[in-house]
Amino acid sequence: MIQEQWIGDAWEQGVRKVKNTSLRVGAAFPHGSNEGQFQLTSPHYWTAGFWPGILWLIYQDRQDVQLRLLAESCEKQMDAVIEAYEPLDHDMGFMWTLTSIANWHLTGNEQSKRRALKIASHLTGRFNIKGSFIRAWNSPERVGWAIIDCMMNLPLLYWASQQTNDPRFKHVAEAHAGMAAKQFIREDGSAYHIVCFDPETGERTGALGGQGYAEESAWARGSAWSIYGSVLSYRHTGRADLLAAAEHAASFFLAHLPEDKVPYWDFRLPAFEGASRDTSAAAIAASGLLDLAAVCAGDRALFYKEQACAILQSLSQHYSADDSEEAILLSGTGNVPMNQNINKPLIYGDYYYMEALAKLQGHPSFWEIGATKA
Ligand code: GLY
Repeated sequence: MIQEQWIGDAWEQGVRKVKNTSLRVGAAFPHGSNEGQFQLTSPHYWTAGFWPGILWLIYQDRQDVQLRLLAESCEKQMDAVIEAYEPLDHDMGFMWTLTSIANWHLTGNEQSKRRALKIASHLTGRFNIKGSFIRAWNSPERVGWAIIDCMMNLPLLYWASQQTNDPRFKHVAEAHAGMAAKQFIREDGSAYHIVCFDPETGERTGALGGQGYAEESAWARGSAWSIYGSVLSYRHTGRADLLAAAEHAASFFLAHLPEDKVPYWDFRLPAFEGASRDTSAAAIAASGLLDLAAVCAGDRALFYKEQACAILQSLSQHYSADDSEEAILLSGTGNVPMNQNINKPLIYGDYYYMEALAKLQGHPSFWEIGATKA
């Protein structure tokens, strides 16, 4: 594969930073970074899979046993979350795709496979058959809520069906993905964060701004999740409406980027001056665009790849942290309405950036394991 120099350089820089950071962080669960150091969270938080996920991405490339041991230790610590049961929510796919499925895929670990299948059953159990959605979160007032981020949890279910030869898991994933294409992606290609349903009848009752600026605004990371999640569901199902949804979402995202290709945290802020960027949204979208490039042909494939590379090059040139910072990328935005991690490095920004660079070097992502349709 002919590869441009900047890709290898950016990857090597990321590997070097991760190895240094691993000396302090070890087998823990970093989330946002503050004053140069990652803040560590509990293994039940939705971000738990991203650090071990980065470690597995690097292990995939160079079989670094030290990093593998750390990733395995993170995965074992997450067993307490499965045991506790109550903290489990819709984000099980984020958490166990990048730990147990990655481990099983790279090492053949049968215990990891069992963990992922158990989690797939829990996730399937959150499906509301009347509204065709996987329920978000656990508090009683949210029993009818679904969120766009949940699209990234679906690959776990497609994988479980492939492993068990039992289509129930994929039926749930496909139903949720089809619902999201209709209920979340607006006519202009932007996405709602939260859509609410009557949990008894399944009727749509409204939408909420969630982590975006307002109900009818366009949260940048939500747009990125809708691109990537939709194209992944296309790869696992071959359904043309899901590819169309991914391309529609991509066209909105790309058309609204500022000159340096890294979005502000919401595409429909009343004013952009002084607003923070979200490098995590840029990295997620870039990785999703590479999947779009992989499933499209001709000029469309070329276009998506060029756009993904332009985003990644901008991240590498303008948003890379120096060695006073543990993270790879600066300027993520976690949750503005909750005043959390604004203009800070975020572990998931680093994860998707490294994943996209790994793809450009020929490594498939962990989300597409078992995808046979595209
Ligand atoms: N909960 C996923 C996100 O913040 O994007």
